[in-house]
Formats: sequence, structure tokens, C-alpha cells
Amino acid sequence: MTSSPADLLARRARLLAPTYQLFYDEPLQIVRAADVWMYDEQGRAYLDAYNNVPVVGHCHPQVVEALARQAATLNTHTRYLAELPLQLAEELLATLPPQFASVIFTCTGSEANDLAVRICKAATGGSGFIVTEFAYHGATDVITGMSPEDGGPLGPGVYAVPAPVGAAGAAAFGAAVRRCLRRMRADGVRPAALLVDTIFASDGVAAHPAGFLAEAAGQVREAGALFIADEVQPGFGRVAEARWGFQRHGVIPDLVTMGKPMGNGHPVAAVAGQPGVLAAFAQRTRYFNTYGGNSVSCAAALAVLQVIREQELLKNALASGAYLQRRLQALAARCAVVREVRGAGLFLGVELGENPASGLAGAPEAARVMNALRRRGVLVGTTGRRGDALKIRPPLTFAPQHADLLVEALEQTLAAGD
Ligand SMILES: Cc1ncc(COP(=O)(O)O)c(C=O)c1O
Repeated sequence: MTSSPADLLARRARLLAPTYQLFYDEPLQIVRAADVWMYDEQGRAYLDAYNNVPVVGHCHPQVVEALARQAATLNTHTRYLAELPLQLAEELLATLPPQFASVIFTCTGSEANDLAVRICKAATGGSGFIVTEFAYHGATDVITGMSPEDGGPLGPGVYAVPAPVGAAGAAAFGAAVRRCLRRMRADGVRPAALLVDTIFASDGVAAHPAGFLAEAAGQVREAGALFIADEVQPGFGRVAEARWGFQRHGVIPDLVTMGKPMGNGHPVAAVAGQPGVLAAFAQRTRYFNTYGGNSVSCAAALAVLQVIREQELLKNALASGAYLQRRLQALAARCAVVREVRGAGLFLGVELGENPASGLAGAPEAARVMNALRRRGVLVGTTGRRGDALKIRPPLTFAPQHADLLVEALEQTLAAGD
């Protein structure tokens, strides 16, 4: 017997700690998904314009087959000689600049960032980290202190700078990092790294003008610190012009962290690094993560890379992303509620202002639109320090006809004010 949403809500309230959150005023019970569609318990289809994890589409048959085949053959850790982790490392490194020499596998993006922080401390002798003001980098104790979006205090030695959202924010970013480094030194803190999500997903999405990260990275290097590109959200082709978000900015990080889409829903993540930086860490300590680099995770990640190549998903993300952006810009031109459309490839933020039809503005309007779109069968999220932007980041198989559905539903929702 299938439980109803009401039963599940009651059991959830009883069984799961109150830290959990649900999307939407009317929470969704999703029972299956395929490609860009998710289906509820009644069989109703929802267009998924939100989930970046199923990067090659929900339940992609090649990924499912790779997972099942490997699970039926062998699943073990990295303390035995095996082909799969090496093949995955080779394939990942082939997508990165030649300066990247090796990888360390983890299970989650949080672990990857936590490890990157340890590596930067070992390589620089510093303990100061710079993040953006509404960043999210993960859920370990140390990384929560570097994730102001969570609402908690910054950790010891962690400093926040305004995110480079909008043209003015982007232009000011390098100078903000320089001032922050000065503040750090005045406090007697030795800088270790700048850690940014290269699409600034939780800060409200920031992508233009591409290049602003190069100046910021230059500032931290001059100060003897390192640059960590958190590619957990923008990586694996989402920004379309390149495989990795940092590549749009013409900068080469010291460390790259990746996760989420890497396994299309299966937990697999990694840190890739330049040799000098990794050597300093390896001299001090060993790193073992029981499930990091396990055989099944590697098989899933290899299948994801293969599908991205075979289905030319970067090309698709570039074309569909450009089409979606054009349609959203056209909507913005005829509908004053849409204040700004930001982003790259298939990662877009749509900032909303005042809507006479609903009588709402900013964050309440964005929340209303997200809920009304869900009722119309289209799934998006919200983002930004002010919470006033819609977050759109569908699987990379998203096609122009899906963009049409999304924009038409959005236009109806803005006009209806319901
Ligand atoms: C930019 C960024 N980095 C890291 C993480 C943490 O990844 P995970 O949830 O896999 O630990 C997230 C998760 O949302 C993220 O958005």
C-alpha cells in the first residue's frame, strides 16, 4: 500500500529530527523520475527545472546499468589495486588544466571542501579563509563555519566578503578580497585560502562579466594563500561554455572540489589538486575515506562522464541555456516584475521585484512564484541573500520545448498573482 502525503508528513514529524526541511507549501511526494520529469504518487508529471544532481537526467539507463553491474561484481575501497578509481582519476584529470596532477575521492561535497581546507592549512601554514557572504559549502563542523547561508556564526579565522552579484558586485570583488586580506593581517591571521562556489549558487547566482575571479585569485596568491574552486554546483558542464565554472574566468585554481552531479544521484565527490599543494598535506598525514572511491561510486561517475561525452551535453546545455536565457530576457523586457536574469549555461537566477498582480515583492514574491509554479507542474527553487531570485538549474538534457513550458508557466504565474 502506498502512503498518502498526509501519512508521510505525520510520520516524518515523528521520526525525523526537526532539522529537516521540505520544499513547497504543499510538499511533494515524488515516487519516480526519468530524464527531466518527476512523478508524484498520483502519476502527475512535474518538469524538473531545479535538480542539478541528476546532471544527465534522472535515472539515466547507462548510469543505472553501470551501478547495477558493478554492485553485482565487486564493491570495495581504495586499499586494493583496482582499475576503476584510476580510470576515473584519469578521466577527471583529462577535463582539468594540465597543472592538476591527482585526485582524492570523498563521498560528499562537504567532505571534499573539508579536506580542501585541511590541505590549504598544511600547504600554507595559514588558518584564514575567505568566503562570500551567503555562501554554502557543506555540512561538516568546519565547513558550516564557512557557510554563512546556514545562519550560524563564521568559524574562527573565517572572513566573508560581498558576493560578486550583478555587474557592480563583480567589478568590486577583487578589491573586496584585497581589503579582507588586509583585515585578516591586521587581526594577526595568516591567510590560507579563498573558497568560492564559482557560480555563487546560494549568493543568488553570479557569472558575468566572466573574469572577475582571476583578480581575486591573484590577490590571495600574492598574500601567500591559495584558491579553492568549489565546483560542486557548477561543475560537470552546467555552465556549458566549459566543463568547470572557474574556466569561464580564465583562472587556474590550486584545488578544485566536486561532487553532486558527479554520480548523477549516487554519492561520490573529490578534490583535485596541483602537486605541490597536495604533497605538503600528504607529508603530514594519510587520508582514508572508506567509501571515497569505492568501486560502485567510480562506476557511476565513469558512466556520467561517458553520457556527458556521448550525448554532447555541454553542447545541449549551451544551446538550451542560451534559448532559456533569451526567453527569460524577453519576459523581463515585457514584465517589470522580472528585474534581472543572471547565470551561465543551465544555471540561472531570476531576480523578482514588485508584482502588482500579487501585491508582493522580492523574497515573498519569489516564494509565491515557486509554490505557484509547483501547482502548475514546474519545479524551481529560490536563492540569494535576499531570497528574491528563482533558482533554475535543470538536468543538462533540458531542451528548448522544456524551456518553453517553464517560461509560459512563469509568465502565467506572474500575471495571475495566485
Ligand atoms: C557549492 C556547494 N558546495 C558544497 C556542497 C556540499 O555538498 P554535499 O551536500 O554533497 O555535502 C553544496 C551542497 O549543496 C554546495 O552547494
